[in-house]
Amino acid sequence: MKGKMTWESPSNIALVKYWGKKDNQIPCNPSLSFTLSNSITTTSCDWEVRPHSSYEFLFEGHPNEKFGSRVEKYFNSLKEELPFLNSIFLRIDTKNSFPHSAGIASSASSFSSFALILTKLEEIIEKKTFNEDSFLKRASHLARLGSGSACRSLFGPACAWENELFGTPIKAHPVFNTYKDTIVVIDQGVKAVSSSQGHALMNNHPFASNRYEMARENYKKSINFLQKGDCASLGEIMEQEALMLHGLMMSSPTPYVLMKPSTLNVITKVQNFRKEKGIPVYFTLDAGPNVHILYPQEFEGEIEKFIKDNFGNFPIIFDKVGDGPNLKDFELF
Ligand code: PMV
Repeated sequence: MKGKMTWESPSNIALVKYWGKKDNQIPCNPSLSFTLSNSITTTSCDWEVRPHSSYEFLFEGHPNEKFGSRVEKYFNSLKEELPFLNSIFLRIDTKNSFPHSAGIASSASSFSSFALILTKLEEIIEKKTFNEDSFLKRASHLARLGSGSACRSLFGPACAWENELFGTPIKAHPVFNTYKDTIVVIDQGVKAVSSSQGHALMNNHPFASNRYEMARENYKKSINFLQKGDCASLGEIMEQEALMLHGLMMSSPTPYVLMKPSTLNVITKVQNFRKEKGIPVYFTLDAGPNVHILYPQEFEGEIEKFIKDNFGNFPIIFDKVGDGPNLKDFELF
């Protein structure tokens, strides 16, 4: 039995942040995100059932040891849950539509694309029956085991991770179906402290229990604002969440700062522009210095001019909210 398939899967940007986890990628608080549209990983897989397992990993068509060993570790960790991984040849070739370290979570789009491949293989080889919902739920669960926030990339336009094991689509007000996310790439360097180290620092964080309590409240409020289409109230929470995430880093047992001076410059200008114009434009940050600027599509002309005029010396990525993954190619030989 052999075949091939290609999946496209998007990244996502958290509005309420997942920061702090228990064993097996169980989050310490619920989180909420917008699924992106242009920031995607495309992963192709050639596969064949064989007596033993062997994998080949290519990143943008070339072998990449660091990437290969992380994915191999992920596949090996799933052998009990997915027995077909003990007797299969897989050639995985993956590429991102966005530059590496551009402030877009490539682990979310990558691991969700791998999880979709694994779920499809489970359907074919283990003869598991899925409908569309249970297929994506299973893929979300498997994606979570690779990178927590990846479980939110399976559903668009908004996805909640409240059930600890997988993400759930959130029905949002239509204004959010076309919401824009423009990313000002302040710095593309490797972060001094990785997200896994950051999660670990939450274990002994003096503010951990207050943070989790606050995240639960912000999560509940955000779901309500998302459904009502209240961009301003959602935006206020989004900015508080971004600054709280970085505040947690700066107050952790080993304190660190991932923002750069230009990060502060961008967020101050966004806030001033909002006040001046009365337009609901808000920022958020991932675990890095780059700034995501979010706004309704109806204001794109004015806001994009402001962004280009003020931050045009940095690389800028124009993205928007999207619907989730796509199966691009599928063949059984
Ligand atoms: O999924 P991880 O382990 O890379 O953690 C992601 C953490 C943040 O991006 C900072 C927040 C989030 O909810 O996506």
